[in-house]
Amino acid sequence: MSSGLFQSDIQIPRRHVVVFCDDAFGPQADRWFDLLPEGCHRILPVFDSGFDAAHPTCRPRVEAFLDAHPSLFDRALSLVVPGGEVAKNDPKVVDSVLAAIHAENICRQSFVAIFGGGAVLDAVGFAASIAHRGVKVLRFPTTTLAQDDAGIGVKNGVNHHNEKNWRGVFAVPTAVINDFSLLASLSDRDWRSGFSEAVKVALLKDTREFELLEQHVEAIARRSEVESQRAIIRSAELHWRHIVEGGDPFEDEIARPLDYGHWSAHRLERLTGGALKHGEAVAIGLGIDAALAVELGRSTPDFQRRVLGVLHKFGFTLDHPQLDDRAAIFMGIEQFRAHLGGALTLTLVAEPGVPFDIHDADFALISSAIERHRSMVRTLLA
Ligand SMILES: NC(=O)c1ccc[n+]([C@@H]2O[C@H](COP(=O)([O-])OP(=O)(O)OC[C@H]3O[C@@H](n4cnc5c(N)ncnc54)[C@H](O)[C@@H]3O)[C@@H](O)[C@H]2O)c1
Ligand SMILES: [Zn+2]
Repeated sequence: MSSGLFQSDIQIPRRHVVVFCDDAFGPQADRWFDLLPEGCHRILPVFDSGFDAAHPTCRPRVEAFLDAHPSLFDRALSLVVPGGEVAKNDPKVVDSVLAAIHAENICRQSFVAIFGGGAVLDAVGFAASIAHRGVKVLRFPTTTLAQDDAGIGVKNGVNHHNEKNWRGVFAVPTAVINDFSLLASLSDRDWRSGFSEAVKVALLKDTREFELLEQHVEAIARRSEVESQRAIIRSAELHWRHIVEGGDPFEDEIARPLDYGHWSAHRLERLTGGALKHGEAVAIGLGIDAALAVELGRSTPDFQRRVLGVLHKFGFTLDHPQLDDRAAIFMGIEQFRAHLGGALTLTLVAEPGVPFDIHDADFALISSAIERHRSMVRTLLA
């Protein structure tokens, strides 16, 4: 009988570049286009419709910029796709991007340049990563959440089977260009939303950053430029470091520290039919997980109060009627367990900068944590 075995590791180096600027299509343009490979690149600009409507000067400016550099770019017709979670819920959005990639002759050496919030980055990035088994992507995140978290992540995907991000792939963009000027048109609600992820990553990884957020929360909520940009850069850096230095960029391991607060947040987003935005749901999710750490005897009410305090000062609403339905929320644990492959690992935080993992969470425990969370929110508001 013949037999054989070929076995070797495959190393696939990837460069993950994030650039910060405040005018990507003005004098600072060389900060990002110098990062591209030599030659002239076919490029398909795709815009989030909410961003496009709120920031009507951007699309013509980008188009004029690309046309003014014919030795670097060969511009395809721009595409505008629905902004917000609908981009991930409606399969027609991915189909429209795939159709444009095909019609505009975007090949594996071409670029799709995505201007949008986290949802559009996720959905359009997903389409780009399955066309020709992956065309190159430039991300221009236009929300605080996209700049400080989603745009940095190497995940792309859309919702399916009534679950968040069920269809998706890992793909590293060629560059992420965080242009602060694109945030000017954001509503206060979407502005605030990004900072729950900044609180999340600071709690996980950086005690000092959590203290700075506590210190500057009012200024950031007022959209003060200096404090907000500092917080966005630090959150982006902490997310970026986790991906490039954490040893598990494509999440082969079970633990998902960056999903702190997310098992219930994803569930709340779905249960409220999107009435709660991702960042808003994460704020509640962080509160529940802080309460869970107290329930487990691993943390203190004082820590829980600090977490809720900073989120409250950002302006987040930390309770929601949907929390009445404990069984429905608990399903979030089961979905997270199934997504991880059957063995549960939840990363919680005992105090800023001190994460720990748990591997079990039954209904009674989650129920008590939700009650503890709500009771602390009531105290905070009293
Ligand atoms: N891939 C990842 O690693 C990752 C990480 C975190 C979150 N996410 C995903 O990101 C999504 C949330 O992203 P989000 O918070 O950016 O919200 P969003 O993408 O839903 O955008 C919010 C709203 O703002 C509009 N908008 C975008 N930019 C604007 C601007 N500059 N001015 C005015 N309006 C603008 C959009 O049209 C939309 O209506 C969720 O689907 C979440 O699952 C992905
Ligand atoms: Zn998130």
